[in-house]
Amino acid sequence: MPIDSKLQLSKDEMRQLGYRVVDQLVEHFENLASKPVMRVSPRAELETKLREPLPEQPAPIDELLEQLQRDVWSNIGNVQHPRFFAFIPGPSNFVSVMADALAAGFNPFAGNWLEGAGTSQIELVTIDWLREMLSLPEMAGGLFVSGGSMANLTALMTACRAKLDGRSENAIVYFSDQTHSSIEKALRILGFAREQIRKLPSDDAFRLQVESLRKAVAQDRAAGRQPFCVIANAGATNTGAVDPLNELADFCAQENLWLHVDGAYGAAACLTERGKKLLAGIERADSLSLDPHKWLFQPFEIGCVLARDARLLKKTFHTMAEYLEDTKRAEEEEINYYDYGVQLTRGFRALKLWLSIKTFGAAAFREAINRGFELAEFAEDLLRKSDRWQIITPATMGMVTFRYVAEGCSENEINEIHRRMVEMMAEDGFAFANSTALRGQIVMRLCTINPRTTEQEIRATIEQIEQFGRELQNVIKARR
Ligand SMILES: Cc1ncc(COP(=O)(O)O)c(C=O)c1O
Repeated sequence: MPIDSKLQLSKDEMRQLGYRVVDQLVEHFENLASKPVMRVSPRAELETKLREPLPEQPAPIDELLEQLQRDVWSNIGNVQHPRFFAFIPGPSNFVSVMADALAAGFNPFAGNWLEGAGTSQIELVTIDWLREMLSLPEMAGGLFVSGGSMANLTALMTACRAKLDGRSENAIVYFSDQTHSSIEKALRILGFAREQIRKLPSDDAFRLQVESLRKAVAQDRAAGRQPFCVIANAGATNTGAVDPLNELADFCAQENLWLHVDGAYGAAACLTERGKKLLAGIERADSLSLDPHKWLFQPFEIGCVLARDARLLKKTFHTMAEYLEDTKRAEEEEINYYDYGVQLTRGFRALKLWLSIKTFGAAAFREAINRGFELAEFAEDLLRKSDRWQIITPATMGMVTFRYVAEGCSENEINEIHRRMVEMMAEDGFAFANSTALRGQIVMRLCTINPRTTEQEIRATIEQIEQFGRELQNVIKARR
């Protein structure tokens, strides 16, 4: 290939490349279920394959696409694989994949109205669909961000601005021990010290207890500190637990505290009837995180942050820059998203959610979410039928946790069995689930939100983990 300093392809070359890329993606989507769920090569092997000095000379794109197939795409955890049950899976959809390609191709600047009127209008509409889905009032609004971590940071920064006017030295934040680590990360970024964080023990169902919250807040007030914010889970990552949102909203109203609801994983369930019931009270949040790249089936990265009063986002993030004065036009009508969050330059994340909802219809998304609930219930039923498994937390929000029953093994040995089970799954590549720790016990965890997962795949996965359990138990016995 000759050096092209304009970085251009001819019309035919563009087409050919596009067709090849689409062919690879279609093959991937079509054959995913028969591929390994993951492969984890050692760093040394990948260094040998991929390390090279900055390449000065052009290389044929076909060869590069082949190299990607060989060394990269074959070396990932396929989060959209129907037997990927770990962490929070990412079962995206092809329409959104194409939307991402369109967004990258047109490359709109989705930070202000002047450069992105059309994109901003799509974002306004799509955010409003989510607002309605969550039954938030009309004054609520927000924006798309990279994911749940950024949504939580954006919301907590807004809470600090609204409740503390930015002065947080004496302020105290409350949440349960089941709250996602991104909350602590956000608080660290915002300058909160460990002494300003109350991580309260959750109840038997891994929910924040309003009584212990009440006590903690009273103690802090008595000591002259400034309670200011409660963070509630709408689908905790470990177990799917939902905190008592209505009671927490009552308490926060009485105590004049900001209520942030982390629904990064679970809030999408509000699209369904059962989700709405489980998450009753979510509509009373002052701010809320919801990740479309989780249970709304979008490719990474799309999170969403909503504030009950959207003006507070602007109050928090609005800044001045001389060279942006031209973009400040009809402020009431034209939204400049750079004023509502951390990013100035931002891509057109809204497109994939908008295009996929329009293409499939919200009813399809509703059914897909319902299927996640049902698959976890199916898994729970299967596990209960086997004397090898003990259910730790029943199916909730498309998630179930369980523990291998190994007679004659100590707690430590059972913990070790679970850690090894995960390693064996990663080595084997048929299916993948992960472990977590609940009250000091290591347990297995299945998150079943992929609507393309079949009952048979759940059955085969549980059988495989059980088989690994037997093998590990025998190894432990033989060690004695
Ligand atoms: C409840 C919850 N909050 C926040 C996050 C962080 O989201 P992200 O990984 O998109 O930053 C997660 C991720 O799993 C989550 O489950």
